[in-house]
Amino acid sequence: MERTYLMIKPDAVQRGLIGEIVSRFEKKGFKLVAMKFLRLTKEMAEKHYAEHVGKPFFAGLVEYIISGPVVAMCWEGKDVVTVSREMMGATNPAKAAPGTIRGTFAVDIGRNVIHGSDSPESAERELAIYFDSCEFVEWDRSV
Ligand code: CMP
Repeated sequence: MERTYLMIKPDAVQRGLIGEIVSRFEKKGFKLVAMKFLRLTKEMAEKHYAEHVGKPFFAGLVEYIISGPVVAMCWEGKDVVTVSREMMGATNPAKAAPGTIRGTFAVDIGRNVIHGSDSPESAERELAIYFDSCEFVEWDRSV
C-alpha cells in the first residue's frame, strides 16, 4: 500500500491545528502508521529540503522549520501521495482552493501549515529521515 510523509509545520502546531489536520486525513480514510512530535535539527532540515539548496528562500525555510516543534507522520492508503496533496491545496496558500488545508488555514507561502511528499520516491526518502523501519505500525496483525 502506498505511503506518504506528512509534516504539520511549526506555525500550525503553534496555532493549535494539529487535531484539525490529523482529523481530515483520518476522516478521509487513510491510515496513520507512524507519528512523532519533535523539533528538527538544522541537519535534518537541510537534508529534508536538500532539493531547495541555493534557492533564495532556502535559509529562511530552514530557520522557520526548526523554529518550533513539528508533527512528523507516515500515512498509508490508496493514492495517498496524490490525494493528500489535493487535500493540502497549492503550495502557495494564496492560490490554494477554498476548503483545502492551506486554502482554509494559511495565507503565506513561507508559513503554509503542512508539508507532503510530492511522489512515492520522495516519500521513501523523506520517511527515512524521520523514522526507522521498525517504527511503522501494522494495523491488522492478528493476535
Ligand atoms: P513545502 O511543501 O514544505 O516544500 C518546500 C517549501 O518551501 C514549501 O512548502 C514552502 O513553504 C517553501 N517555499 C516554496 N517557495 C517559496 C518561496 N518562494 N518563498 C518562501 N518559501 C517558499
